[in-house]
Amino acid sequence: MGRHPLQAEQAGAEVMGATPALPLLPAVILVALVAPVLVLENGLLRTPPMGWLAWERFRCNTNCDEDPENCIRWGQRVAGRLEEEAGEKLFMEMADRLAQDGWRDLGYTYLNIDDCWSGGRDTQGRLVADSKRFPRGIAFLAHYAHSLGLKLGIYGDLGNFTCMGFPGTTLDKVVQDAATFAEWKVDMLKLDGCFSTHEDRALGYPKMAAALNATGRPIAFSCSWPAYEGGLPPKVNYSELANICNLWRNYGDIQDSWESVLSILDWFVQYQDVLQPAAGPGRWNDPDMLLIGNFGLSLEQARSQMALWTVLAAPLFMSTDLRSIAPRHVDILQNPLMIKINQDPLGIQGRRILKDQAHIEVFLRPLANEAYALVFFSRRQDMPYRYRTSLAQMNLTSAKLYEAQNVYTGDIISGLQDKTNITVIVNPSGVVMWYLYPIRKQGRSQD
Ligand SMILES: *[C@@H]1O[C@H](CO)[C@@H](O)[C@H](O)[C@H]1NC(C)=O
Ligand SMILES: *[C@@H]1O[C@H](CO)[C@@H](O)[C@H](O)[C@H]1NC(C)=O
Ligand SMILES: *[C@@H]1O[C@H](CO)[C@@H](O)[C@H](O)[C@H]1NC(C)=O
Ligand SMILES: *[C@@H]1O[C@H](CO)[C@@H](O)[C@H](O)[C@H]1NC(C)=O
Ligand SMILES: *[C@@H]1O[C@H](CO)[C@@H](O)[C@H](O)[C@H]1NC(C)=O
Repeated sequence: MGRHPLQAEQAGAEVMGATPALPLLPAVILVALVAPVLVLENGLLRTPPMGWLAWERFRCNTNCDEDPENCIRWGQRVAGRLEEEAGEKLFMEMADRLAQDGWRDLGYTYLNIDDCWSGGRDTQGRLVADSKRFPRGIAFLAHYAHSLGLKLGIYGDLGNFTCMGFPGTTLDKVVQDAATFAEWKVDMLKLDGCFSTHEDRALGYPKMAAALNATGRPIAFSCSWPAYEGGLPPKVNYSELANICNLWRNYGDIQDSWESVLSILDWFVQYQDVLQPAAGPGRWNDPDMLLIGNFGLSLEQARSQMALWTVLAAPLFMSTDLRSIAPRHVDILQNPLMIKINQDPLGIQGRRILKDQAHIEVFLRPLANEAYALVFFSRRQDMPYRYRTSLAQMNLTSAKLYEAQNVYTGDIISGLQDKTNITVIVNPSGVVMWYLYPIRKQGRSQD
C-alpha cells in the first residue's frame, strides 16, 4: 500500500483509540503531523538495562528430552499433567538465582526470553506459548518474575517468521501482539527483524512503538532495526530511532569468542562519531550480550568485555548459566563500582580517545560530578605492558587535583595533576580501568 510511516502510526493509534477526548482530536492530529516525533516518551531505561537474556548461552535448545536442564522452558507437562515441581525449568531457576544471589539488588532486574518460546497462534490469531515447555503461558512467568522483584522481557520478530522459524509479527499483527504482550504484563520487548523487508521495518518498528504506547503499559522497546540496515546513516536515522526505541542492536550477534568481541568493538569504535551521540538516557546502543561466565573468553578478556561495555554505556545483559557461574566471573559482573559507572545518570557513551603505536587503546567516558571512567586496553599478545601517560596527554587539562580508583583492584591513586607521569601495567588482551574524580582539597573526595 506504500503508506507513509507517520500515517501508519496514526492509523495504529486510532485503531487502539481509547481516547475519550474526541473533540480535541483534530488539534491532536495536526500537532502530530507537524511534529514528526510522537512516540517513545515512555520514561523507561534512563540508565542502560541490566539483566539476563537467554539467547547467547541457551540459543534455541528445545530438546528437553535429552537436555532437560538447559532447554528453553518454564515448566513441563508430563502425560497431560502439569508438573511444575518436577524437573528443571530454566527460566524459573534463573529468576530464582537473580533474586537470591545478589543480582537483582545490584540492578540486574530483567529476565528476558529470546526466540523459541512460541507455540503458534490460537484461533483468534493471538500468540500463544509452547504448551509443553511453557504450560502456564507467559503471563504466569511474568507474575512469578514480578513476585521476585524482577521484570520480564519477551521476544518477537517483525516479519513472516522469527529467526528460528516461529510465527512472526507481520504488519497486520503488530497491534494485536502488542496488546497480547501488555495483557501478559511483559516489561520489555525485543523485536527482531528476520524475514522482513526494508519497507516492513520502516513501517513496522514505528507502528510497534505506537502500539506499545497505546496499550498504556510501560514496555521497554528493544529494536533490531538498525542491525538489519547495516547500522549506519543514511539507511539508519538515529534521531528517529531514539524516538521509537529504548535500545537497539546496531550490529551482528555476539558469539562465544574473543574474536567476536573484538569485531563488535572495532565496529563501534570505527563509527563512534555516529554512534556515540545517538546514545543517552532512554536510548542506548546495544553491542549485544556479555559472554562472561561462558567458554570463549579468558579471565582477562572477560574483564575487558565488562570494562569496555561499561564505558560504552551498553546494556548489561548476561547470558550465562547463573546456576553454576564461577566466583571469579561473579566478581566481574557484580563489581559495584563498575555497575555505578555503567549506570551513571548522565548516560553519556564513552569513546576511544587514543590508539597508541604500542597497541594500547584508551577509552574515556564522562560521568556525573566531573568524574570519568578511563579504560586502558591492551591489544598486545606478548606480556604485561608498562604504558606511560599523563592526564594532559588525554586532554584532561583542568587545574584540578584528581584521585583515581582502580575499578578491579580497588587501589587508590592520589595526587594526580595534569602533568603527573602515570604508568599503568596492562596485561595482554586485558584492561586497567580507572574511576577518576576531582578532589576539592587534598585528601578529600568530592562526594
Ligand atoms: C512474507 O510472506 C508474504 C506472503 O507469503 C510474501 O509475499 C513475502 O515475500 C514474505 N516476505 C519475506 C521478507 O519473506
Ligand atoms: C505514550 O506516549 C506519551 C507521549 O507521547 C507519554 O506521555 C506516555 O507516557 C506514553 N505511555 C506509555 C505507556 O508508554
Ligand atoms: C531523521 O529523523 C528526524 C526525526 O524523525 C528528522 O527530523 C530528520 O529530518 C531525519 N533525518 C534525515 C536525514 O532523514
Ligand atoms: C587533544 O586535543 C588536541 C587538540 O584539540 C587533539 O589534536 C588531540 O587529538 C586530543 N587528544 C585526545 C587524546 O583527545
Ligand atoms: C615525567 O617524565 C619525563 C620523562 O619521562 C620527565 O622529563 C618529566 O620531568 C616527568 N614529569 C614529572 C612531573 O615528574
